[in-house]
Amino acid sequence: MISRRNFLIGIPASVGAAGALHPLITWAADQSVYVPGDEGMIVRSARFFDLEMPPEFFDSWLTPVPHFFVRNHMHEPSMIEADTWQLTIGGEVEKPLTLGLADLKKMASHSVTNTLECAGNGRGFQQPHVPGVQWQKGAVGTARFSGPRLRDLLERAGVKPNGKHVMFHGLDEVPGKVPPFIRSIPIEKANDSDTLIALQMNGAPLSKHHGFPARALVPGWIGAASCKWLSEIKMLEKEFDGNFMKPGYRYPNHPLKPGDPLNVDDSHPLTALNVKSIIAAPVDGSTMKSKMLHVHGAAWAGEAEIVKVEISTDDGGTWQPARLDREQAKYAWRLWSYAWKAPKPGDYTFLSRATDSQGRVQPATADWNPSGYLYNAIDQVKVHVEA
Ligand code: MTE
Repeated sequence: MISRRNFLIGIPASVGAAGALHPLITWAADQSVYVPGDEGMIVRSARFFDLEMPPEFFDSWLTPVPHFFVRNHMHEPSMIEADTWQLTIGGEVEKPLTLGLADLKKMASHSVTNTLECAGNGRGFQQPHVPGVQWQKGAVGTARFSGPRLRDLLERAGVKPNGKHVMFHGLDEVPGKVPPFIRSIPIEKANDSDTLIALQMNGAPLSKHHGFPARALVPGWIGAASCKWLSEIKMLEKEFDGNFMKPGYRYPNHPLKPGDPLNVDDSHPLTALNVKSIIAAPVDGSTMKSKMLHVHGAAWAGEAEIVKVEISTDDGGTWQPARLDREQAKYAWRLWSYAWKAPKPGDYTFLSRATDSQGRVQPATADWNPSGYLYNAIDQVKVHVEA
């Protein structure tokens, strides 16, 4: 794992020219680099900010914004002025609209507590190894997002009968020939009463990392569906087929053997998240001074509900129910805990397995795919008990 400090130590002096990195990364006198909002986060990439939440922050149902993972495919917009920012709504609509932030703030606001997870979360555990950001457990977080419903905006623009897909375009600064971050969702999900144009996160205006001033919030779906720094909504007749929809963020229609390439024509765009649990504590590889162990973590299932989380201490031979915390919401994770007494000092392995309301059970091995999407194998933590 690369902590911020290790990351700094690893930067060669030759990269020390301030202009070599994006202007948002500034150099201090001691040659350390400051990534805004990264306190305690694991820096997976500082070229574009990719910040992972370490396991110790899985301790609150709502993730504080400074601990909420950040996933950027390119540079964040260097300047967005709240007063001049505009959102256009066009394409297959009767009345194309241009709205400012003040217009959106005047609309009825709705709140959704949503667990947002990057489709690549857990990719770092995929065997055999796959390329891409090597996320482990923490490209996920839960926040209360608020803003107007997308369907209210679409209603104002008057969607034509042939408007079947809603395209989102973000204001990312596109380096070189990289295609812009544009994706689409089907009209059915866009019209869901919980799909938002979010202006707030945990009661405060969105921060720059998380899409200020407005982002799509497509609850229960992979994080990529929730486009940040939104500038344009366009109704399309067909699904958008640019890079981040095709070949990006697609899943094979049939299981692949490790090493098989993705056949784009035999794949579909990723939508809802998988059933998954992770163990936050104890941390893998830790030594415990007491035989009494408090195992805890989080479990989520996209559009489904978590029904149970079970723990095994005998390599999956038997499973015991974990206690699910009271706090819950339709698209939000459940925190869970499990108290266990080690019979004697030694090495122990904890496994966690979640089951959801659709009958999905976390598998022993995740389905392999070349991008490591939707990794959800049973989580595992090894500890040494000393006492
Ligand atoms: N929106 C834009 N404009 N650009 C991006 O790179 N990344 C997407 C999505 N929205 C992205 C984006 C991905 S892959 C994820 S997982 C989520 O934003 C992450 O949201 P967060 O950074 O607020 O946690």
